[in-house]
Amino acid sequence: MKRILTIVGARPQFIKAAAISHVIRDKYAGQLQEDILHTGQHYDDAMSGRFFTELDIPLPKYNLGVGSGTHGRQTALMLNGIEDILLRERYDGLLVYGDTNSTLAGAVAASKLQVPVYHVEAGLRSFNRAMPEEVNRIVADHVSTLLFAPTQTAMQNLENEGFAGSQAIFSGDVMLDNVRHYSPIALQSASSSIPDTPFVLATVHRDFNTDHPERLKSILSALCTLAEQHGTEVFFPIHPRTRQRIDSMRIAPLPSRIRIVPPLSYLETLAALNRSQLVLTDSGGLQKEAYFCGRPCVILRPETEWVEIVEAGAAMLADADEQRILVAARQMSEITPSQPSQFGDGHAADTIIRHILA
Ligand code: UD1
Repeated sequence: MKRILTIVGARPQFIKAAAISHVIRDKYAGQLQEDILHTGQHYDDAMSGRFFTELDIPLPKYNLGVGSGTHGRQTALMLNGIEDILLRERYDGLLVYGDTNSTLAGAVAASKLQVPVYHVEAGLRSFNRAMPEEVNRIVADHVSTLLFAPTQTAMQNLENEGFAGSQAIFSGDVMLDNVRHYSPIALQSASSSIPDTPFVLATVHRDFNTDHPERLKSILSALCTLAEQHGTEVFFPIHPRTRQRIDSMRIAPLPSRIRIVPPLSYLETLAALNRSQLVLTDSGGLQKEAYFCGRPCVILRPETEWVEIVEAGAAMLADADEQRILVAARQMSEITPSQPSQFGDGHAADTIIRHILA
């Protein structure tokens, strides 16, 4: 029996881990035993705990409880805690997801102890080193043993950086596995809190949008115009960081057609996506989920690592520019994206575990 340690810490990682944990439990329980380590990067129930319950993810064996902090401090506390556990317990490999500070800490701690590192969602590049996530994903890729790329673009990025042979593997995207599995369940159990009249789903959490008041104001102003002049309801589940920044900006109250609600659960998010007309977001995960659900998207960033969605005409980049956001929202509202084919066959989790075991 092989033993693997999975590192999670931030909201999108719980969702990705669900796909893999279920495959291990349902299909490979005799060959692979998984322990989960939660770094504690996200700690509110709305950002963390309820995902474990809703998605039936095994409870973490360890929780480092690092909480919020500067990037250096947060990552250092995680490195320290993960190393202690790797020194105490023998694991045959360590699994990390995506590009958060938890990913970076797990990958670095394991590689220094020569524990094989498996990186799920490898090879993504925004080519913008000002994003903390870009630094995290580059470092994680370069210390990993096996790199699981969700798209052919990611495979190409890895090839360009010198990864050759069998180290980089096109697995497809575990988030597609989840959207296919959970969408029907989400629509059946959709909570009454999600509007049933046409609406735009908006989310903002990236530090380059929340921590620059002029960018956040410009995005909010576009949402106000959509709500007031275009009469569109804007459904706005709000990340804790964004809430703090809006509260401290002392701006005029937002129009009532902008409905601010606490962060949604995963099933609520899927239900909201499936019922929305259009998505406005700076989240990498939500861009993709919108595409998987056939919803057009306006990306509130200057660039995206999910270039295939823009190339397919299913999303437009608008940065934090009010006019560009409004033009893109008008154009994208008229589009029904086709079903994606670039993100694998919906069985990425199984492909990943088969390769790890092999
Ligand atoms: C992190 C990831 C980002 C991912 C996002 C998903 C990094 C560098 N970024 O960004 O890639 O898309 O998670 O949400 O790892 N906070 C709370 N309660 C919580 C969690 C956070 O109040 O449960 C507040 C804290 O004030 C904290 C701030 O949100 O300082 C930001 O949290 P942090 O984990 O630093 O980064 P995210 O913006 O969530």
